[in-house]
Amino acid sequence: MSRSVSSDVILQPAPALTWRTIGGILDFYVFLGPDPASVIQQYVEVIGYPAMPIYWALGYHLCRWGYNSSDSTWETVKSMRNYGIPQDVQWNDIDYMEHFLDFTFDSAKFATLPDLVKDLHAHDQRYVMILDPGISSSQPEGSYWPFDEGLRRDIFIKDAEGKTLIGTVWPGLTAYPDFSNDVTHEWWYDNLKRFHDKVPFDGVWIDMNEPSNFLDGSTEGCPSNSLENPPYTPGILGGLLRAKTVCATAQQKLSIHYNVHSLYGLMEAKASASALKRIVAKKPFVISRSTFPSQGMYSGHWLGDNRSQWKDLYTSIAGILTFNLLGIPLVGADICGFSEEPQEELCVRWTQLGAFYPFTRNHNTINMRDPTAFSPLARTAMKQALLLRYSLFPLLYTLFHHAHVHGHTVARPIMFEFPKDIKTYGIDKQFLWGKSLLVTPVLDPGMDYVEGYFPEGLWYDYYTGEAVRSKGEELRLDAPLDKINLHLREGSVTPTQAPNLTLWVSSGQPLHLVSALSDDGSASGDLFWDDGESIDTYENNQYAYIVFNVSQNVMTSEVLRTHEEATYITVETAAFYGVKQKPSRVLVNSQDATFTYRANQVLTVADLGLNLSQNFTISWM
Ligand code: NOJ
Repeated sequence: MSRSVSSDVILQPAPALTWRTIGGILDFYVFLGPDPASVIQQYVEVIGYPAMPIYWALGYHLCRWGYNSSDSTWETVKSMRNYGIPQDVQWNDIDYMEHFLDFTFDSAKFATLPDLVKDLHAHDQRYVMILDPGISSSQPEGSYWPFDEGLRRDIFIKDAEGKTLIGTVWPGLTAYPDFSNDVTHEWWYDNLKRFHDKVPFDGVWIDMNEPSNFLDGSTEGCPSNSLENPPYTPGILGGLLRAKTVCATAQQKLSIHYNVHSLYGLMEAKASASALKRIVAKKPFVISRSTFPSQGMYSGHWLGDNRSQWKDLYTSIAGILTFNLLGIPLVGADICGFSEEPQEELCVRWTQLGAFYPFTRNHNTINMRDPTAFSPLARTAMKQALLLRYSLFPLLYTLFHHAHVHGHTVARPIMFEFPKDIKTYGIDKQFLWGKSLLVTPVLDPGMDYVEGYFPEGLWYDYYTGEAVRSKGEELRLDAPLDKINLHLREGSVTPTQAPNLTLWVSSGQPLHLVSALSDDGSASGDLFWDDGESIDTYENNQYAYIVFNVSQNVMTSEVLRTHEEATYITVETAAFYGVKQKPSRVLVNSQDATFTYRANQVLTVADLGLNLSQNFTISWM
């Protein structure tokens, strides 16, 4: 059950929830599972599968409030390149706008913005800028098209008397587009298109869309009636339905605001995604602050303003996992923290964890530091973490495919994979990518080790292939400042790729397949591959899908569907963790191949030069 009307949801000490809602229609769905992952799949089937993100959505995003000029934004991009830190996307916050007006850019301080965007594109990088829903209503008539045209098309939210409702946001007095009206979607598209003709942005960041208002209700207050002051007001911040938003009695096309308040971000995300599809003719990239069930179909999400504190680093894990359960897997927290000065050690640890957020963005407020501003040691550690993420792109992309098609989670609570192990139920300091990659970050200062829980079975150190056999216990792991612990679960095949500074380059690199064998010598995995950008590649059968299996000393790669994109990719190396005896021969497609075998039971076959689009076998004896 989800409510667009104000509600309380209270977690009781018993395994029980209390819901109190002050209106609306109650639809109840019961998802029978039986296991947690199936419950989520069934839920996502109802609310809508999340969109497959455009490939660069999975790269590193850098943003801050207060670059103050396009040149200083550009300087940051250049130093990222100089330091060899991967970066796919540069963002701008509200400071790029002329007087904070949507669909404008500051003609003095951001005069070079179009050139910056051109330069980003020339380096296979992308540009995303913020948009707030509040449209300035106080510009001289005829000088600000978004408002004038909005009035002409009658797309703004109205007050109880039918006049345009006016609130206050960054640009001063503002009207709010009513995204429950299709005409508004067309107006939003026109605005985006007109701006895109000047600044060819690649995606949009929609903020303040609760919708947020610096006033309570409007410049004229709100009527005094039982909708504004219901007999019971749920425990919302400010204690009033209109607190820091528009009046409950405000009128939208679909209904009064009282009934649709929580849908504002969802409807804006929908309008933004559909406009972007028309403008750039690629998978749309939208990140939204406000969300509602179904929003994964249109946008990702960041967890909002956090602080540069260790506890915020820790709680971000629960936030990331929660949104994966809610069908919005493209989610991240502001890496290194949004407000307060980030300490170097915290920022390194946060970049390591952030490299495993499905959506990886460093964003900070005015006067704070970004990764280029730290010591060479810290910079190197951050760069390493991001390169590690980029090397795992084939896995991450495939996990998003399964989220899109099956409603799987990308970042996953450990208990989803081990529902019978009650020790996993409370774990909020570790998580998995998919079913097999275990992430154990450091979440405290001054540590050179970390303790993590390993469910029963065989695990392998991701970097060395060293086996870790657990009876279902806490293990202590070395964790110097430049390391995030990663382990592969037995029975998995993980596709990885030589990383590079952008995913455009990186995603063309040869593949390296890592098989983590279970005790009986078996493993399996898969790979989804397409052009990364086109809309609906899965729906239109424009993709390759390959399944890897290892059993009885034979790895087979079976191409279930091929696509031109897969013909450009080679499989260069294969590593097998947990090969108990040194092989005497290794055959690749029945031809003898050279190999190495290490005492830690890792077999590596290099220089394979296999084409991903063709079946192959690798066997040893
Ligand atoms: C609030 C957002 O949460 C934050 O990320 C942003 O920097 C500020 N608005 C300014 O636009």
